[in-house]
Amino acid sequence: MKNKTLWTDTEGKPIQAHGGMILQHKGIYYWYGENKDTETVNRHVDFIGISCYSSEDLENWRNEGIVLSPVVNNPAHMLYTKNICERPRVLYNKSTKQFVMYTHADTADYYYAGVNVAVAASPTGPFVWLKSFQPNRQDSRDMTLFQDLDGSAWLIHSANYNKTMNIARLSDDYLDVTGSYISIFQDQEREAPAIMYSHNRYYMITSGCSGWEPNPSLYGICDHLIGPWKLIDNPCTGPAYRTTFDGQGTCIFFVQNQPYVLLDHWHPDDLRSSAYSMLPIQISDNGGLKIEWQDETFFTNSKRREGTS
Ligand code: DGJ
Repeated sequence: MKNKTLWTDTEGKPIQAHGGMILQHKGIYYWYGENKDTETVNRHVDFIGISCYSSEDLENWRNEGIVLSPVVNNPAHMLYTKNICERPRVLYNKSTKQFVMYTHADTADYYYAGVNVAVAASPTGPFVWLKSFQPNRQDSRDMTLFQDLDGSAWLIHSANYNKTMNIARLSDDYLDVTGSYISIFQDQEREAPAIMYSHNRYYMITSGCSGWEPNPSLYGICDHLIGPWKLIDNPCTGPAYRTTFDGQGTCIFFVQNQPYVLLDHWHPDDLRSSAYSMLPIQISDNGGLKIEWQDETFFTNSKRREGTS
């Protein structure tokens, strides 16, 4: 796949899964993201739905349609078309056998700052909205979910007007917070959290706060999810490392044991045309992260057989 381009699905249509995440379930990759295929006005698009695409090889993506729909006739609802619904994250809860989706829920001016929770019986939805709330009575803007090795789930969200990042434990059914949370990266003003566990450590890559404009990434590490977290450095190297290759991280996913970061390359004046990249994350012997730019990323062997490497 050619990086920093707008990829197409198996029908040749542009993939509308911005600010997204990739869930692996029963050998299939599911890519959830914001469908922004509508007019951009003042760097903003209406909420027209959360999309899902499925793939067995991360290269051929089948459009599974809109899995979380907007509410078009109730301005008081957080899923109202004029509101913000960003960064969908889905986990499978083994006990309840439900797929649980969290998204950033906001008013068009980003003032409400909460989350939406929705559930589905299948990874391809439809997801049924349950509620919107502010986790632990804290404001919550960019966010992600993380499922730990023991099955516990955690909501990681920018809080205190993006001044800190909160890590909040979810209830066993993943539908609520438990009241237990920590605030990390105090006064660092980070957003777009993407987290992984690898080499016996937790890693979190975040962006700075500059709207749709790219900025340097920064990663932190810790031995236990609830800290203490230590900020390390920008994991990106080479040309354009200071702008995350003109992109912003959105999630980390694994192919076997190899982690990859999914980037959005935002086009603020025409958000639907925003592009994507998937780049491998290298972990050095001393535990440091390195992300290098590459023009193309191949996941299947077929292209290599055609003589591309
Ligand atoms: C940066 C966030 O990471 C995006 O998800 C989006 O909310 C933009 N800000 C809006 O400016």
